[in-house]
Amino acid sequence: MHVTAIVPAAGGGTRVAGLVPKQYLPLAGIPLLARTLLALQASRRVDSLILVVPPGHEERCRAEILAPFGLTTDEVVPGGEDRQASVYAGLLRTSPSTDLILVHDGARPFITPPVIQAVVDAAAEAGAAVVAMPVTDTIKLARPDGWVAETPERGRLWAAQTPQVFHAGLLREAHIRAQAEGFRSTDDSALVERLGHPVRLVPGLAENLKITTTADLALADQILRARDRGTESAG
Ligand code: C5P
Repeated sequence: MHVTAIVPAAGGGTRVAGLVPKQYLPLAGIPLLARTLLALQASRRVDSLILVVPPGHEERCRAEILAPFGLTTDEVVPGGEDRQASVYAGLLRTSPSTDLILVHDGARPFITPPVIQAVVDAAAEAGAAVVAMPVTDTIKLARPDGWVAETPERGRLWAAQTPQVFHAGLLREAHIRAQAEGFRSTDDSALVERLGHPVRLVPGLAENLKITTTADLALADQILRARDRGTESAG
């Protein structure tokens, strides 16, 4: 099965302090987005890659993210004004002959080949699968005025991560329908769920965090150190 990865990395990264946009921020010397792409490249399940970057950043990404790390992508395309629009921009460039489309946030550098393999296998079978983690906090549904509306049963709650993988036709239909009906969501699974199509949950890893705030950078540093120690003791 041919798998095309779309990597939305067109966010402004404004919640991470600093003058350097988040994508280029070095994590132990390697830019965040390069780490994500290297992690995807390490998986033998990804055949094509479409990178979505902030409009105007195409050349800078080639020069600072791709070239120095020997990374190649099929396309580097400008994103849209929210994540959904950026994924859609990538979707328009996918080959009509690809079987599965894997969407993975540019801001999640710690994804591993076994988790990619598991979610691709699940999507090949079920048509749609997302990596997620059972939540450990008790989650409150809030009212707009800041009071608690409801406490959903924790045992049934999962936090969605990426990769999220879909049969190509299903994801295209989901995006086109959402676009036509003015529905916006922060993940692709929600667009597929609206079509009434079942989506499988695939257990992920806590370390597959999305680098969103400055505090996440310290966590990322700890994960990298732990990995280095693991590599040293293995070698
Ligand atoms: O907004 P959030 O932090 O959840 O973004 C998740 C991913 O979507 C990030 O990798 C970000 O770069 C990307 N994104 C995008 N286009 C936007 C906004 C976010 O590709 N307009």
